[in-house]
Amino acid sequence: MNFDQVIDRRNTESIKWTLYGEDVLPLWIADTDFLSPPAVVEALHQRVDHGVFGYGCIPEGFNEVVIRRMKTRYNWEVNADQISCVPGIVTGFTLLMRCACEKDGTVIFQTPAYPPFINSPICAGLTGIHNPMYLDQDGKYKVDYDLFEKQIIENKVKVFILCNPQNPTGRVFTQEELEKLAEICLRHQVLICSDEIHCDILYDDHKHIPIASISPEISKITATFMAPSKTYNIAGLHASVAIIQDEEMRNRYLKYKSYLVGNPGLLAMVAAKAAYEQGDEWLEENNAYLQGNRDRIEELLPIKLPGVSWSKPEATFLAWLDFRKSGLEGDYQQYLIDHAKVALNEGSTFGEEGKGFLRLNFGCTRATLEEAIDRISKALP
Ligand SMILES: Cc1ncc(COP(=O)(O)O)c(C=O)c1O
Repeated sequence: MNFDQVIDRRNTESIKWTLYGEDVLPLWIADTDFLSPPAVVEALHQRVDHGVFGYGCIPEGFNEVVIRRMKTRYNWEVNADQISCVPGIVTGFTLLMRCACEKDGTVIFQTPAYPPFINSPICAGLTGIHNPMYLDQDGKYKVDYDLFEKQIIENKVKVFILCNPQNPTGRVFTQEELEKLAEICLRHQVLICSDEIHCDILYDDHKHIPIASISPEISKITATFMAPSKTYNIAGLHASVAIIQDEEMRNRYLKYKSYLVGNPGLLAMVAAKAAYEQGDEWLEENNAYLQGNRDRIEELLPIKLPGVSWSKPEATFLAWLDFRKSGLEGDYQQYLIDHAKVALNEGSTFGEEGKGFLRLNFGCTRATLEEAIDRISKALP
């Protein structure tokens, strides 16, 4: 596929391309500007042509596609009973938190964090504990395990929302890192809610390891959420998968789910199946193009934005940019919208540690990316 092809997304109900003015380049919310795999578009056409859209069910063979995918990609054995579908990952993890916690339970997650990790517990009447990551001497974001354990004990934490690969830092946690996190959760009976939505967009030789695949003990305390949304750029359709291997946890989750949310929409499931079944070749090209974008940012930062630094992402199409030494003052996001005509995500929405940072979505054509960086460069003081 030609990822340099410019697709006009204005007037297509795209929130990314609607929220800001016509003259603003939107590099914020996490979808890409690329066409989805041809097999997905074809499957949707066929289903739409049928013309009847009554209540749907999980497509025949969908669970088998997921089972095969888990085995071939991660050497993880799951069975059909353990798989269920949910319209979105935010919906899924909010549901899980609600059914795992008493009314006033406590939830922990690493920060900077995807904003719903911060806000969903609050809306569900729960308390969220922020576990700040730090930059090590190699410029990589790391977890402070001692602090993580101390916070779990002191706050009687019930649920850990793991984000792997991590949004916004782009870290892919290694087996050793995942084992350390899991050991702490096992020691204190903390349930792991593992958001792995970004697991398919990986760079260099980074490998995704579902935390539940490490051992049966870890799987017993883990609910895993994955989706084709980011992977195949179908986030607007809302089809996500939950894999819960522990029977008791699964039954509780499914009971709550049956009263609170339904399955994804019929077209979402058609697209999800086609994507998972026939999207692999497209995905390789997508990842190669995105890796090229990531590397272009690395080349351009010292030339165009010398006051901006980053920790090179190992996964995701998100760049977490540190503007604290850029000379900007006040509201960085608004300044760039007004003066550069580029919209990025405001870092402080990712928690206290995000102050002075902006998140740039490089899931766009290389020309758009270069234009955005050029505009930012010219607008900086
Ligand atoms: C870590 C993470 N989880 C969940 C989501 C959204 O998932 P959904 O749209 O399926 O609710 C995103 C989207 O950016 C994300 O980055």
